[in-house]
Amino acid sequence: MEIIIKSSDYEVGEYAAALFAEEISENSQAVIGVATGSSPESTYRHLASRVENGLDVSRVKAFALDEYVGIELDHQQSYHSVINREVVQQVGLAPENVRVLDGTAQDVVAECADFEAHIASSGGIDIQLLGIGANGHIGFNEPGSSLVSRTRIKTLAPHTVKDNARFFDGDQSQVPIHCLTQGIGTIMEARKIVLVAIGRNKAQAVAGLVEGPIGTFCPASILQMHPNVSVIVDQEAAAELRNIEYYNYARDNMPTWQRPDVHTAE
Ligand code: GLP
Repeated sequence: MEIIIKSSDYEVGEYAAALFAEEISENSQAVIGVATGSSPESTYRHLASRVENGLDVSRVKAFALDEYVGIELDHQQSYHSVINREVVQQVGLAPENVRVLDGTAQDVVAECADFEAHIASSGGIDIQLLGIGANGHIGFNEPGSSLVSRTRIKTLAPHTVKDNARFFDGDQSQVPIHCLTQGIGTIMEARKIVLVAIGRNKAQAVAGLVEGPIGTFCPASILQMHPNVSVIVDQEAAAELRNIEYYNYARDNMPTWQRPDVHTAE
């Protein structure tokens, strides 16, 4: 696990976007996993600027992590709408190459199975972007989720409903309480994982992810078992890490060939 501590949201996004640009430059048909929430916004802005500078994403495929159940797909805060704004319109992926779970499906079990089959038939996810919930969730896999779970329906934790109310005029009653989400087992099959976190309210979750015991109490902690993870955080989100000096030392001494910000120009 590579822990990269940056001084701003801007720099977190710049570094994460460099990792995605590196993957896409090497494979113009890369399959990427995309996330919603405020943390990845800066990554998408930087990726969009790389596309303006010639990065070709016309054949890139994308799968989104999760979707609410209980709001229409064209609701401004559905993850269909968010991914459409952030990834399709802003970064420039072809809409037909982007698959988001359908939270309005009559048969959600079949929808989740179809989503998994679609990932498999695309060859699996090459690089997955993740945020992290303040309670340690990834996707919408709340504490208590099976660490080998597959894509399925889940109930949002009250903590998450409260956190996400800011996207619904601050009104918790408007936030759906159910969702479809890639499972933790599904996420763990991505060949590379890039997790971004910003702000003091993520510090405890980030500490649990990086240094805590592996367990469902902090679902993100399972990433310690993945062979290729970059955790990119600002100083506030890093505030509760105990081994911070080593992470900075390793970052400052990273071999040049491992540094996407050096060998992929923006
Ligand atoms: C949301 C999403 C997650 C996201 C997390 C953090 O509920 N389902 O994929 O990583 O919560 O969101 P934010 O980055 O806005 O804090």
